[in-house]
Amino acid sequence: MRGALLTFEGVEGSGKSTQVERLAVHLRGLGLSVLVSREPGGTDIGERIRAVLLDPDAAAMDGRTELFLYLASRNQHVREKLMPALRAGTVIILDRFSESSLAYQGGGRELGERVVSRLNKLATAGLRPDLTILVDLPVEVGRRRKEGSRLDRLERERVEFHQRVRDSYIRLARRAPKRIRIVDGTRPAEESQVEVRRLATEVLKRKGLI
Ligand code: TMP
Repeated sequence: MRGALLTFEGVEGSGKSTQVERLAVHLRGLGLSVLVSREPGGTDIGERIRAVLLDPDAAAMDGRTELFLYLASRNQHVREKLMPALRAGTVIILDRFSESSLAYQGGGRELGERVVSRLNKLATAGLRPDLTILVDLPVEVGRRRKEGSRLDRLERERVEFHQRVRDSYIRLARRAPKRIRIVDGTRPAEESQVEVRRLATEVLKRKGLI
């Protein structure tokens, strides 16, 4: 694969989407071909699956149904969009990827990280990010940032659910400290962005892309 896969993860309200956008602007400014995408979503089919997943009226959804839908979206994304882009030498920046399923369904829904990890391998064809940035902050801080906006089905989950998600993310980062890097999401966005760019640059240099 000639390109690179950079993924962003975090609990609700972590500010990762802002970091994604700013990093994309920076890397395009360096002349790189950059693709920004998200999960669930990123393809026509994936965006339709996203609408089902986030619909607050789908409150009766079983945890395994939820997992399979996230994986279905990922499978389509990997095959239709990510693999071809990587082959073409594109730098892909993703707003969520495999670690979201490990943390939200494995941890939050308590389905277990082992089973999610095995199913993730099937959905990703073994594709792993070159770098994963975990924008971390306390769950309550993230929730406060979302106050006043219309919450989706996942955002409406109890605080304990989101706490398990955060704990799970931190465990994953400890287990793969070289790939999963934690950035403090409580700091102003510009400060976090400096760190994000430093981490991305390191990886892209190592891969000979810059
Ligand atoms: P977003 O709001 O950051 O775009 O993400 C959509 C929601 O989906 C968010 O609550 C996290 C959740 N999610 C999972 O539970 N599992 C997954 O595999 C992914 C990709 C997202």
